Amino acid sequence: MSIFKKKPTQELSLSDIALPAHVGIIMDGNGRWAKKRGLPRSAGHTAGAQTFRKIARYCSDIGIKYLTVYAFSTENWKRPSDEIDALMRLFKDYLQEAIRDFKDDSIVLRFIGDRSAFSPELLSLMQENEDESRDRDGMVLNIAMNYGGRAELVTAFRDIADKVKDGTLSPDAITEQTISDYLYTAGQPDPDLIIRPSGENRTSNFLLWQSAYAEYVIMDVLWPDFTQEDMNSALIEYAKRSRRFGGI
Ligand code: IPE
Ligand code: IPE
Ligand code: MG
Repeated sequence: MSIFKKKPTQELSLSDIALPAHVGIIMDGNGRWAKKRGLPRSAGHTAGAQTFRKIARYCSDIGIKYLTVYAFSTENWKRPSDEIDALMRLFKDYLQEAIRDFKDDSIVLRFIGDRSAFSPELLSLMQENEDESRDRDGMVLNIAMNYGGRAELVTAFRDIADKVKDGTLSPDAITEQTISDYLYTAGQPDPDLIIRPSGENRTSNFLLWQSAYAEYVIMDVLWPDFTQEDMNSALIEYAKRSRRFGGI
C-alpha cells in the first residue's frame, strides 16, 4: 500500500468511469483533526459524523450499490471512557435521526459487527433501522460497529463447527463460499475499493476475508475534511487500476 496523492488536474471525470459496486471506507483521522484545532477528540468525532452523513448520501446519489463504513472497531474499546461515551452518543443521534427523517429514503441500513456489547437502547435502534429499511431498493449501507475482521471469522468458524458437530455440514463440503456465507456480509459482493483517509497504511482489522482482492486507496486527508471531490478522486484512481485477480 502507498499513499495516493491527489493530482492537481483530474483527466477523467465520474461520467467516464465504471464505478465499483462495493466501496469500503475506514473513517479515520477524527482525533488528529480535533488535535490540530486544539479541540477535544470528541469534537473530531462529531465532525466526522457529519462527513459520514454527506458522503453516504453522495455515494447513494451517484449509484454506488454497497457502502461499508468502519465506524467502531473491536479494538476501539481500549480508548478512554469519555471518548467511547461520546461515540455512543453520536451513534444514538444518527440512528434516531435515520428513523425520524429517512422515511422516504432508498438506503438499506445494515449493521455489521458484534452487537452484544451495545446498550439495549442502541440495539433496539439498530434493529428498528434494519426493519424499517429492509425492503428499500437503494444502496446498502453497512455500518461496521464493534466490528473486527478476526472476530467476524471466529464467529463464522464457530457457527460452521456447530453445523459439522450436529451433522448438517460435512468438513469436505466447506468451501471459500461457505466461509463468505457465514460472515456479516453474506450475500453481498466483496468490496472492490477500500478508501482509508488519514494516511495510515494498514487494514486495522477491516473486512479481512472480503478484501482479498480489494483495491486500496490511501489518502492523506483527515476524515472530517473528506469531501465529495476526494470521493471522486478515489473512484477515478480505482478506475485506473488494473485488477488481475492473479491472472495476467
Ligand atoms: C476514527 O478516527 C474514528 C474511530 C476510530 C472511532 P480516530 O479517532 O481513530 O482518529 P485518529 O486516528 O486518532 O486521528
Ligand atoms: C480504524 O481506525 C477503526 C475505525 C476507523 C473505526 P483506528 O484509528 O482504530 O486504527 P489504528 O489504531 O490506527 O490502526
Ligand atoms: Mg485512528
